[in-house]
Amino acid sequence: MADPDSRTGASYASPEILDWVASVHAPHDPALARAFATPADMPAIMVGPSEGRLLHLLARLAGARRVVEVGTLAGYSTIHLARALPPDGHLWTVEFEPRHAELARANLAAAGLAERVTVVVGAGTDALPGLEPHGPFDAVFLDADKANYDRYARWAIANLRPGGLVLGDNAYLFGELLDDDERARGMRAFHEIVAAACDSVCIPTPDGLVLGIRR
Ligand SMILES: C[S@@+](CC[C@H](N)C(=O)[O-])C[C@H]1O[C@@H](n2cnc3c(N)ncnc32)[C@H](O)[C@@H]1O
Repeated sequence: MADPDSRTGASYASPEILDWVASVHAPHDPALARAFATPADMPAIMVGPSEGRLLHLLARLAGARRVVEVGTLAGYSTIHLARALPPDGHLWTVEFEPRHAELARANLAAAGLAERVTVVVGAGTDALPGLEPHGPFDAVFLDADKANYDRYARWAIANLRPGGLVLGDNAYLFGELLDDDERARGMRAFHEIVAAACDSVCIPTPDGLVLGIRR
């Protein structure tokens, strides 16, 4: 059920409730904890434990074998996604900052996933065309520069198999989705591109997570 408040966006989550449910459904093991604990001079902007677990379960539900991620940071969401893959599956994750990529590689190695994940250093718009020979893909997760989500969505639609997943975090654009500027227009275009090619929903996580199943 929902009441009028929750239907219009109110959340009953509190930090304590979020911690408790994550401890039950999405507990951290040492490898996840290591990737979650970024150094002090690196932004701690990874998905939350429950969102990471959601990505993992969605990838498993889709039977994903080949996955692309844009925006690696320290590899936290990467570990969640890569653990959903079968032993012969592969994940390519694109990261602009070499230092983030280096830390992610170390975290993925510590998680025993070095062979299953390729960390590509570069801008998503430059790197994605080079991944096309590995496709079609079973899932594409977007979590990098929001200004290019519309371009990433077009690439995802063109390179996903029918039934494959497109996922995009920060789909409420930090509350600025309906603003009258280029970034917000780009994010709205992202929503529209996904909805036109997929059966889709924007899951009401704290900042919105778009999920589309490619038709
Ligand atoms: C929100 S963080 C990713 C968090 C990660 N997905 C997680 O949940 O663990 C965004 C990352 O995207 C990277 N980034 C920013 N612009 C990018 C671009 N144009 N191409 C690829 N990566 C980019 C940033 O350096 C940062 O590490």
